[in-house]
Amino acid sequence: MMNDKPLDLHSLKREFHEKLHRAVSLEELEEIRVCYFGKKGILQDLMGALRLAPKEKIPELGKEINLFKEQLAVELENKKREVEERQLAKSLEKEIFDVTLPGKARLRSHPHPVLDVIEKMTEILRSLGLKEVHSNEIEQENVNFDLLNFPLDHPAKDMQDTFYLDDSMLLRTHTTTFQVPMMRLHSPPMALFCSGRVFRNEEVTSRSHQQFSQIDAFHLGKGVSLADLLSLLKLFYRRLFGDNVILRFRKSYFPFTEPSVEIDISCIRCGQKGCPICKHTGWLEVAGAGMMHPNVIQAGGHDPAVYTGWAFGMGVDRTLMLLHNIPDIRMLWESDVRFLRQF
Ligand code: DAH
Repeated sequence: MMNDKPLDLHSLKREFHEKLHRAVSLEELEEIRVCYFGKKGILQDLMGALRLAPKEKIPELGKEINLFKEQLAVELENKKREVEERQLAKSLEKEIFDVTLPGKARLRSHPHPVLDVIEKMTEILRSLGLKEVHSNEIEQENVNFDLLNFPLDHPAKDMQDTFYLDDSMLLRTHTTTFQVPMMRLHSPPMALFCSGRVFRNEEVTSRSHQQFSQIDAFHLGKGVSLADLLSLLKLFYRRLFGDNVILRFRKSYFPFTEPSVEIDISCIRCGQKGCPICKHTGWLEVAGAGMMHPNVIQAGGHDPAVYTGWAFGMGVDRTLMLLHNIPDIRMLWESDVRFLRQF
């Protein structure tokens, strides 16, 4: 066909257009594509025929065929898009979307409320300039008790109150255990805190559990005073519960502090009008604190004649119960999704 009537690209193109015009589905377009662009397709034939053309005409003819090929490809692609759009429009016409149908809510996970409140509380401590450190849940008995100036016969050391793992190791009963190891590791001044779980061999009731969380902090340095501690705690509780919170300090006793105080805040539930949460006293007990005992500073490897320090320890679970009005501490550990989902 080449030699006498070299290349009738015109009529080929017309034919192509006719086919394209008739096609209404993607399947038909695919047939056309194979017919022209396939391995045994018309364009392939043209290239074969080109080899038989007179030598001097080959470059020009080659160019023409390539151009032809490009045009066909563009037109095929355009038609394809047109068909796709038409199909989409048709299916949208047929399908009915009921926008009033209720959606399916996906369950999203989030931190456990205890972790969440620890994060809130520790973030405030960080913003007040204290540095966070970590401490072991399994601890030596003497770190938990003796080095914190507990007398040998202190009732807390009793097997009945503490989970002993063997003769010398136990599950820490408070996060105050971090004090001596940290003092041995660092030199003053240091203002540190740690948070974590503590364990006590107690009866489980709505108000006490065998496992709960605490945050402990201390500041050891020259001239550190009880007044520093009291103003820091005021800032802390105001940031946590709001500016209306009033603090009260009551004289107390802990082996590792002297003097020792118990910290109460004005009831955040009733604003001191009296409610079951504050047992109608208007006050809530939230932390223990005091000046670090000279024996403890000494056990930490520092001279209590040179350095003084304040310390405090607070319960996390109680704080959480206050914040969310949770009546029973056991709910925190029952892994009931209906309860946890509320946070
Ligand atoms: N460890 C005490 C407890 O578990 C709380 C405590 C009181 C910690 C006074 C302190 C402190 O650091 O100075 O009840």
